[in-house]
Amino acid sequence: MAIVCARKIANVGLIYVFCRPKSSLDRLILLLSIMGKNILITGGAGFIGSHVVRLMVTKYPGYQIFNLDALTYAGNLENLKDIENAPNYHFVKADILDAAALKNIFEQHHITDVIHLAAESHVDRSIVSPLDFVYTNVIGTVNLLNTAKDFWKQDLSYENAHDGTWDGKRDHLFYHISTDEVYGSLGKEGLFTETTSYDPNSPYSASKAASDHFVRAYGETYHLPIVVSNCSNNYGPNHFPEKLIPLFIHNIINKKALPVYGDGLYTRDWLYVIDHARAIDLIFHEGKKGDTYNIGGFNEWTNIDLVKLLCTQMDEKLGRAKGESESLITYVKDRPGHDRRYAIDATKLNKELGWSPSVTFEQGLAATIDWYLQNTAWLENVTSGAYQTYYNQMYTNR
Ligand code: NAD
Ligand code: TYD
Repeated sequence: MAIVCARKIANVGLIYVFCRPKSSLDRLILLLSIMGKNILITGGAGFIGSHVVRLMVTKYPGYQIFNLDALTYAGNLENLKDIENAPNYHFVKADILDAAALKNIFEQHHITDVIHLAAESHVDRSIVSPLDFVYTNVIGTVNLLNTAKDFWKQDLSYENAHDGTWDGKRDHLFYHISTDEVYGSLGKEGLFTETTSYDPNSPYSASKAASDHFVRAYGETYHLPIVVSNCSNNYGPNHFPEKLIPLFIHNIINKKALPVYGDGLYTRDWLYVIDHARAIDLIFHEGKKGDTYNIGGFNEWTNIDLVKLLCTQMDEKLGRAKGESESLITYVKDRPGHDRRYAIDATKLNKELGWSPSVTFEQGLAATIDWYLQNTAWLENVTSGAYQTYYNQMYTNR
């Protein structure tokens, strides 16, 4: 702890010298650093978490960032190799199901804020093992809420919860990262807004919906300063190759079949992971406490159109004949309870906090493919061992 404090003081000094805060946001961030923000980011070794950790570590040297991760099959410290020696970055291996470990971490590191991403995150796995999703996503989240509530209890007053002073009081924040899948499935028209009713259809989305409800309930009942965001499908570097885009990039590289579920006309709204991390940064600093924000790129694609675009871009990058990768497309048995369409209305985030995506889908997809082509060792590493068993179970004789 003494080392952490010394580093913090040194870092704050450096910020004063080099940053000279100009805007009110810069001043707020500087104030938070001086006040000693020790931010716990859970699931920071995963896909989205690693991008959030990198952004917070590099953009805010005055914050101490504690990455808590159990390192399941989806967690990989290779994702953070470039920042692992940063003075304000600390990795803690722990499971959010372990309440005693969480208490220790809060006490030892004086955690002031939480950005909670740790979760079981894959719909297909939730269909095979729903209980794993109940444990991590529901019970793990409640463990974390309990720990934060108990550790921050002297700062959580009734007045702060109900008289609108949360915005002025920046002592603590429990920021829960969720998904648009809690809203269920859309027909041909319409978008999910922050007031759309929850209607989850898969064990994954049911477990995320339950965790969202617990977060809100802790805000109301215990006056925990909370904020929730619900984001559309992410894509980008470091994505585990069980989800559509990284799985298909991997299969195209290896000239393996591209298993499109059902008729391929299911629709998803895709957002580049770095734009999600930017939105999380903004909501963490400027989001209204107790509120919820939808995050999405107004970027809907049917699966089959997306796969064809991916095939075209990859044929060009791999120097293959036009149409070669498309010939790998194979329609397979559908996913049970498959949601037809997701589409996010991100107007509130845009209007209230001024966020919008920084890249088009074509740019983001090209950058993603480039990353996978340049990081074949990462791909080889995560697709060896247990991944083969999963892949065979999912796709052999489907
Ligand atoms: P991921 O599966 O890539 O990463 C999850 C991380 O959590 C891994 O590092 C894993 O080791 C860790 N973890 C899992 N169980 C844990 C436990 N019990 N204790 C501690 N750590 C544990 O997931 P992701 O795609 O990066 O998603 C991160 C969050 O964002 C999740 O909450 C997910 O619901 C949400 N989300 C994801 C998407 C998406 O498209 N991927 C979209 C919207 C929201
Ligand atoms: P996925 O990446 O698993 O995300 P989610 O289910 O959370 O939206 O799947 C995206 C879409 O791609 C979804 O409609 C299911 C479909 N899909 C396939 O057609 N084939 C596959 O092998 C996978 C993994 C997904």
